[in-house]
Formats: sequence, C-alpha cells, structure tokens
Amino acid sequence: MSDIYAGAVDRGLEGVVACTTAISSIVDTTLCFRGYTIEDLAAHSTFEETVFLLWNNRLPKPDELENFQATLGKTMNIEAAALKQLQALPTAGVHPMAWLRTACSMLALWDKEAQLDSDSARKSVAMRLTARMGTLVALFERVRQGKPYVEPKPDKSLAWNFLYMLTGKDPDPDAVKVFDVCLILHADHELNCSAFSARVTASSLSDIYSAVTSAIGALKGPLHGGANEQVMLMLKEIGSLEAAVKWVKEALEQKKKVMGFGHRVYKNGDPRAKILSQMSQMMTKKTGQPHWYEMSKMIHETVEGQKGLMPNVDFYSATVYYSLGIPIDLYTPIFAVSRVSGWLAHVFEQYGNNRIYRPRGQWTGPEGLKWVPPSDRR
Ligand code: COA
Repeated sequence: MSDIYAGAVDRGLEGVVACTTAISSIVDTTLCFRGYTIEDLAAHSTFEETVFLLWNNRLPKPDELENFQATLGKTMNIEAAALKQLQALPTAGVHPMAWLRTACSMLALWDKEAQLDSDSARKSVAMRLTARMGTLVALFERVRQGKPYVEPKPDKSLAWNFLYMLTGKDPDPDAVKVFDVCLILHADHELNCSAFSARVTASSLSDIYSAVTSAIGALKGPLHGGANEQVMLMLKEIGSLEAAVKWVKEALEQKKKVMGFGHRVYKNGDPRAKILSQMSQMMTKKTGQPHWYEMSKMIHETVEGQKGLMPNVDFYSATVYYSLGIPIDLYTPIFAVSRVSGWLAHVFEQYGNNRIYRPRGQWTGPEGLKWVPPSDRR
C-alpha cells in the first residue's frame, strides 16, 4: 500500500488549515469581518454596508454605499420569464431549502453573464444573487400560500423588503432593524461547511451559480444551517417552562444532541449568540411571548451546566425569527439570504488565488480481488 495512506485521518478536517483567507477571522470568542468585530458591525452597520465590506475589503464611502444600495435595490425583482417558471415549481410537501437550491440554480438559465469569467460579469452575478435570495425565499412562501408575488421596493433595504415580500404589508421598523442585524450576524463565518463547499466548487473554476447552489445544499443539513429550525421545533415540543429542564437532562442522558449548542471552533461561546440572546429577550417581550426566551435561557443554563456546551448562532436566532412571525421552515433559507454574501466573498477569494481542492482518502476496503463470472459468485 502506498505511503500516502499512512498518515492519520483528520475526521471532519478538524484543525486542518485548508486555505489562507482575509474575509473573516475567529480568535477565541472574537469574530471579525475584514478586521471589524461582529459587535461593532451589529451595533453600527447595515447588511448592505457589511456586504460591501466583505466583497471590497473596506467600508464604503457615502456615495459608494448609496450606489451599492441602489444597485441591490434595482436588482431584487425577478424578471417575468423566470418568475413564471419559479411559480410553477411544486411547493406542497417540499422543504424550502430544496426549493431554494433548485430555484437558485434555475436563475442561472436566465442570466446571460452566468458563464462569463470577467471580473465585472462576476460582480454583477454576485449582486443579482445577493439581491434576489430574499426575493426567492419570500416567493416560495407566497406560492405555497397560493398568494401572488409581491414586487420589492427598490428604495428600501434588503431586510425591509424581505419582511414586506413575505406578507405584502409594510413591516414594523423595530422588526426591520432586528432582522437587519440578524443578516449582519449570519453574513460570513470563516471556513464553515457551506463556504467550504462553495470554495471547493469554485476551485474547479466552475461558475458562481454552481458554487452557490453547492453551498445551499451544504447549509441545508441539521448540523449546519438546519439547526435553527430544529431549535424552534424542540422548544415547541417541550411546550412549557416547567418541562424544559427535565426534557434537556433526559436528552443529554440519552446522548442526544441538543440543537443550537456546540461548535467546532468556539469552545468558550459564540459571540453572535450573545447578541441574538439580547434580541430574543427584547423581541419575545415586545410580541407578548417572553416564555420562549425564558425557556431558551433555562435550556442554555442546563446544557452549559451539564455538558459545558454553549449556544451557537442558531439557538437564539430561532426565537428571534419566531417573534418576527416568520414560518419555522424558513429559518434556514433566511440563513442563506444573508450567507450568500459570505459565500460570494469566498468564491472571489478562491478565484483570485486558486488551486483545485483534491484531498486524498485513506483506503479501508479489500485489496487484490479478482473478477468472477456471475454464475461462480457466492
Ligand atoms: N448536544 C449535546 N452534545 C453535543 C452537542 C450538542 N448540541 N454538540 C456536541 N456535543 C457533544 C458530542 O456528543 C460529543 O460528545 P462525546 O465526545 O461525548 O461523544 C462532543 O460534544 C463533541 O461533539 P462533535 O459532534 O464531535 O463536535 P463537532 O465539532 O464534530 O460538531 C457541531 C460541531 C456544531 C456539528 C455539533 O456541536 C452539533 O452537532 N451541534 C448541534 C447542531 C448545531 O447546533 N449546529 C449548528 C452549528 S453553528
């Protein structure tokens, strides 16, 4: 057997440094985008400004931000031909992430720049994908409810429009602010599973739509983006404050994973969870359902006390989204509405310094077998 197989396998690539990156960094409990802490961005920035930062490696000047917002605004709407086909896709019994994965890939068929590899074509594809991810998720919800498409308003933000396109009603300003902060918090996260998927696909020099479609597939899983939806389902299953501690202790005794806890990189807490915890407390109170925050807090204290595990980004985002009135199975698609900006930053970084990803697998199967005719097989 070749020596290539002799080394230890890093299951899940834990601790493996697969590329250099200057997009986001995680050091202990500090997350930065392009050098700015997530706390700073959540307190002062907007999602649009954060996207500019992720793609351009600096904060925009006032006129640059204005132009950037205006371009995103003009790009949110989906053209009639594509819209007609998207509205014809099935939604009954379909997971929104499966629909979104297909819809994102379909958009490439109407995009004349999808296969071009110039910098300017790639930038405008990135704009379209980022501007339209929220439009797609809202469209799914409208089709599922048998309601007409709500056209976005180009002079409003992506956060405002997403909430508007879901319901057709002007959203509450506090809800827009909270949702915008959620989008900032989820925009990027170093070499997470979906960003890595996007980079792996881009490393074959495949196109942007293919890379983003791969990333949506990776985000869908319950160990990654799918956890936020599972958190809310868990809270609903537990049902009451009285039942929470017992439920969680039993789950841990049975070696079950409690969704929204643990992290491959953060061992002392996820900084995004702290911000989301405050927003969960504020929004559940504002909407007259503080028990969801209180139950979450009890679960948090129990899991931390029993197992030493801290909540991750998905734990408190569940109750924030719930208090915004967003359907539970849209929580993971919302993650994509924001994270698409980070995936694209990674795809650009990959194209800019590319070498195809092609690791090895340690062979554990049989060797030296000889083919035998079907009649001689036992
Ligand atoms: N609930 C209970 N136990 C957990 C746990 C959780 N949420 N997360 C990790 N653990 C335990 C594991 O059972 C394992 O225990 P063991 O050593 O006794 O077997 C140990 O902690 C290490 O977990 P492991 O799954 O190997 O860590 P990982 O680095 O491979 O995975 C996650 C990281 C995030 C996938 C994992 O913590 C998880 O599945 N969390 C729940 C899903 C989730 O919230 N995902 C969103 C991530 S942002």
